[in-house]
Amino acid sequence: NKLGILGVPITIGQPNKGADLGPDAIRHAGLYTVLQNLNASYQDYGNVQIKNEEANQIDQATNLKNLNEVAAASELTANKVSEMIQEGQFPLLLGGDHSMAIGTIAGVQQHYENLGVIWYDAHADFNTEETSPSGNIHGMSLAVNLGMGHEKLTSILQNEPKIKPENVIIIGARSIDSGERELIKEKGIKVYTAHEVEQQGIESVIKESLNYLTARTDGIHLSFDVDSLDPIYVPGTGTPVEGGLSVRESHYALRLLNESEKIVSAEFVEVNPLLDERNQTAKRTVELIGSLLGERYI
Ligand code: ARG
Ligand code: MN
Ligand code: MN
Ligand code: MN
Repeated sequence: NKLGILGVPITIGQPNKGADLGPDAIRHAGLYTVLQNLNASYQDYGNVQIKNEEANQIDQATNLKNLNEVAAASELTANKVSEMIQEGQFPLLLGGDHSMAIGTIAGVQQHYENLGVIWYDAHADFNTEETSPSGNIHGMSLAVNLGMGHEKLTSILQNEPKIKPENVIIIGARSIDSGERELIKEKGIKVYTAHEVEQQGIESVIKESLNYLTARTDGIHLSFDVDSLDPIYVPGTGTPVEGGLSVRESHYALRLLNESEKIVSAEFVEVNPLLDERNQTAKRTVELIGSLLGERYI
C-alpha cells in the first residue's frame, strides 16, 4: 500500500486559533525526509478545504459551537478519506483539532465491516451536547463515532454508528469529565488510563489491545492525539494535561503497532504551532509518525 497524506486543517472544534496550521507545520518539520529515509512511496493529497469560520459561541439551542461548520468539514473529510482508500492508499491524516475524527473515521469505516479504533489521548472525547462542559466538538468526536450526539454529526456519510463500543480502546486518559465517565461506564468502553500505563507498562497495554482488537475487528484505525504525551514534550497543543505519557514509551507503542501490521489508517491531531515554540510539537509528531511507519534505531 502506498501512503496517502491528507491534512485536515480544522480549528473550529475548539476555541484556539492555530490548529488549522498543524498539518503544514508537520510537513515543514521534516515529514518528507522521514518518509524518504524509510523508502516509503507516498502521495500528498494536500489539505481538505475547510472553512474555519467560527463564531465560537455556544448555540443556546444545541449547546454546541460551530455545529454546521464542523459538520460540513466532516463531510468533506470523510469523502476524501474514503476516496484515498478506494485508490489503495494508507491514509496518514494530519490535524487539525480532534473534531476531524468525525470525518476521518466515517471515511475509513466505509471500507470495513467492523472497524477497531485505538484512541491514544489524554482525553476521552466522549462528551455529547448534553454532558459537554465546553460545547467544543473536539471533546465529542469519539462519542459521535459511536452514534451519540447531534444528528448533524452522527449522520456523516451514513446515519449509523461508525464503530461499536466494544471495538474501541482509549489509552493514556487522565482528564475525563464526569458526564463522560458515566457514558464510558454505560457503554463499557475499555480504557487504559495514564495510571494503568504506568502500572502495567506500555508494552503490555499495546499487546493486550492488539490481541483484543485483532480477534474482533477487520482493521484498526489509530487516532493519536498529541496531548497524550506530557506537555513538557508537546507544548504546542490546545488542551495540555500534565502527568502524560513519555516520548520514549509512545515511540515504543507506535513501533509495536507497526510490527502488528494491523493499523489500516492513522491520524495525528491537535498540533497547534501558534501555541508552540520552535515547532517542536510538530517535530516530535514527525518522529512519532516515523515509528508508526517502521523507523528503527538500528
Ligand atoms: N473534555 C474537554 C471538553 O469536552 C476537553 C476535550 C479535549 N479534547 C481534545 N481532543 N483535545 O471540552
Ligand atoms: Mn482528543
Ligand atoms: Mn486530548
Ligand atoms: Mn528520526
